[in-house]
Amino acid sequence: MTTTPAPFLSTRAREIQPFYAVDIYRQALALSEKGRTILMCVGEPDFTTPERVIRAAMEAALRGETHYTMPMGIPPLRRALVQHYRERYGVEVDQSRVLVTAGASGALTLAFSAIAEPGDEIMMADPAYPSNRACLLACGASAGLVPVGADTRFQLTAELVAANWNPRTRGVMIASPSNPTGTTIPHEELAAIHQVVRDRGGVLLVDEIYHGLTYGHRPPSALSLGDDVFVVNSFSKYYCMTGWRLGWLVAPAAYVPAIERMQAHFFICPAAPSQWAGVAALEPESTAIFEQQRAELQARRDFLVPTLNAMGLRVACEPDGAFYVYVDITAHSHDSWAFATELLQATGVAVTPGRDFGVHRATEHIRMSYTSSMAQLREGTEAIGAFLQRR
Ligand SMILES: Cc1ncc(COP(=O)(O)O)c(C=O)c1O
Repeated sequence: MTTTPAPFLSTRAREIQPFYAVDIYRQALALSEKGRTILMCVGEPDFTTPERVIRAAMEAALRGETHYTMPMGIPPLRRALVQHYRERYGVEVDQSRVLVTAGASGALTLAFSAIAEPGDEIMMADPAYPSNRACLLACGASAGLVPVGADTRFQLTAELVAANWNPRTRGVMIASPSNPTGTTIPHEELAAIHQVVRDRGGVLLVDEIYHGLTYGHRPPSALSLGDDVFVVNSFSKYYCMTGWRLGWLVAPAAYVPAIERMQAHFFICPAAPSQWAGVAALEPESTAIFEQQRAELQARRDFLVPTLNAMGLRVACEPDGAFYVYVDITAHSHDSWAFATELLQATGVAVTPGRDFGVHRATEHIRMSYTSSMAQLREGTEAIGAFLQRR
């Protein structure tokens, strides 16, 4: 296909990099038409949304909830979120600070738009979720990437934040548990970072999208640190609702009116039936289902990490959350893109190359998701083992 040139494509649009996980996924889907593939590249649970949640959306649509809602979201969902913070975390959040969004992506777009001037930097770990960088670029700002490693469990520390703060730094973004490493930040360290950020007059944003998915512990929400923290969350991961495009943002009160205005102009509101599904997803009957799924994910992690280590695919830091393993492949390759594409062609196993998540030692890492059944994980790791022996 020939493409007509786009003479007015903005510099920002040009600078936004591909989402490599999506590229690999596309290649894997094309391959799956010819043979078997095992998707260890995707960032979503393999579990379908529970039936009771789907029904709530269907019932809402059938009773006519098919219109725009208020930009902040439907009151029952905002109330349920307030209750969620109260019951699960013991934190009181004023409902006026809770904005329902089109996934965490919508929340990130709004939060960054609210705080970043052109030229500003938001500090974050390298590796980190790629779309943070893209959303900031769209605001004319950028990500101030700070290389992190297994010594800090791939998270920023208060010391790193203080050492890397520069005149362009407007704030710090933490994701805990992290994508791509599945590691959480200790709450005391997060509190210390909050203090450093406060002292410098900056803003702290915490992405808690994988919060429900932690293994062996239940971290407090960053909202317990104070009402000046931005918290991003979503129904995509723990609640298995990626396709519903539903998330939320808790913002400091002073930012809310501007964020509400932007939401009204950029998105109007999140999809109405999805919001009603969100209400059902927060009910205890749904939590029981999600908790079973969390146990299944933990069992998969407990299988995958030692299996990979035994093959020389080193997991330097045991993940304690999300559904990712960040794997050091240097015993086998120093080019994670070539490794991922060769692996896919040779075995049908799709993994994500490190370059999606930043630049620091990106060619030496791949991200693997354990969002396939245990049987598929066994099959996939056996295929990887055979592939490594053939190389
Ligand atoms: C850390 C992180 N933040 C935000 C998102 C966006 O999620 P969504 O827009 O589906 O809620 C993702 C998706 O993978 C993610 O991993």
